Amino acid sequence: MPYYCQLGNIPHKRHTQFRKKNGGLYSEQLFSTEGFSNDYSLLYHIYPPTDIIHTDEPIDLRPAIAEENMLKHRSFDGFKISPTEDFLQSRIPVLVNDDCHIVLAAPKNSMENYFYKNADADEVLFIHEGEGTMESMYGKINFSAGDYLVIPRGTIYRMHFKQENNRLLIIESYSPVRFPRKYLSPYGQLLEHSPFCERDIRPPSDLVSYDEKGDFLIKTKKRGLLYGLHYGHHPFDVVGWDGCCYPFAFSIHDFEPITGRVHQPPPVHLNFEARNFVICSFCPRLFDYHPLAIPAPYNHSNIDSDELLYYVEGEFMSRKNVTRGMLTLHPGGIPHGPHPGAVEKSIGAKETGELAVMVDTFHPLKLTVQALEIENPGYTMSWAE
Ligand SMILES: [Fe+2]
Repeated sequence: MPYYCQLGNIPHKRHTQFRKKNGGLYSEQLFSTEGFSNDYSLLYHIYPPTDIIHTDEPIDLRPAIAEENMLKHRSFDGFKISPTEDFLQSRIPVLVNDDCHIVLAAPKNSMENYFYKNADADEVLFIHEGEGTMESMYGKINFSAGDYLVIPRGTIYRMHFKQENNRLLIIESYSPVRFPRKYLSPYGQLLEHSPFCERDIRPPSDLVSYDEKGDFLIKTKKRGLLYGLHYGHHPFDVVGWDGCCYPFAFSIHDFEPITGRVHQPPPVHLNFEARNFVICSFCPRLFDYHPLAIPAPYNHSNIDSDELLYYVEGEFMSRKNVTRGMLTLHPGGIPHGPHPGAVEKSIGAKETGELAVMVDTFHPLKLTVQALEIENPGYTMSWAE
């Protein structure tokens, strides 16, 4: 999706002999997430990326669905998810459909003894709390609070956290995550009216090539099962790569909000899109400046989408009793809008410090068993006066 990048050593021509000092050939790998029909990268490995030496029995990670059909506003306290030692075990799916899974995680430890690959879904890791480094076969990306880490499906990676207090919102996308089409030129450059540009994209850097043989476990997720695949060499043995398919970081703090004289509709907050859902960033901004403007959003009927809002920081003028890490779900089919009193209260306000991530899905989300465990039951009727 992003621009062309190159890191490390690569041969002058693709698909030609590229030899090591000892005369042996490096192993070329084409990496893409949509066959040979879209963005790709070419990676050059010290060892072939194919040498599985043994496999473990798979573990079933498919989410347990508690409610498939429902029509009421819901709210969940995301910070009630307990911190867990291991990165993969910490990942709790709360709302899912065939296009995306919304997952909360509070991992305490770095990944020391294994690597991870999601073979099904691109992953967007929104770092609410925590900092560290994501290491992949493409190199390293340092991250901190507010970063989206966008990881194409199939990327082998591991997370290093600097401390134990980490809170992540993870969106698993069963189609490639891209920047909005409306902000791209026909050839893929971010256009002048986009709220961000290529300078805000942070690709991997600091490529370290591990020339190590042994037993390296890559936990690989496929169709909801987690397979333990052991390889005979270190997976980060790449000496160079180039192309347009790679993980990157984008900070929500680099999103430049679009504002106007009157209230701007949610699409101005659009940050990423994928098949049948979008991801929006609500950032601190000046409010509308028409003399009679109403800064609070109007009631609206999202008849064709579920709206999921994840609250990150700041005061939320349209809702009562909002806390950090809270999720609200306004399902398609019934209108929603500001809580009683919020419209009058918003008049005259000059700016907002609110920071939130919104996921709008065009097909309904299902609630998992774990979602019900963190639900705020009073939310459904909280508009009644
Ligand atoms: Fe809405």
